[in-house]
Amino acid sequence: MTETFCLKIEGVEQEFMLDPNLPLLEQLADFGINQRKACRNGVCQICDAELLAGSVFQRYPRADLSAPASLYLCTSFARSDLKLRLIRAEFTRP
Ligand code: FES
Repeated sequence: MTETFCLKIEGVEQEFMLDPNLPLLEQLADFGINQRKACRNGVCQICDAELLAGSVFQRYPRADLSAPASLYLCTSFARSDLKLRLIRAEFTRP
């Protein structure tokens, strides 16, 4: 059974369960969050976000990041419970 982590997003009451094997960007869509994206490989930088709590593994540019830090949602994987500040996102579900 895969371990899951909890995601909190600044300004959002609801909490979400994260699969550590999937990039954060992929999972946001399932949560009803429309995050701006383009390349999906860490190059265009349009999916940047702020890590307010927790730690992630970022595949590209390769780094182990702990809060406070900036990350790219398309190449980052949860390594603990997280709190994020999304910069270019809108919520499509209440
Ligand atoms: S979508 Fe381009 S860096 Fe994430």
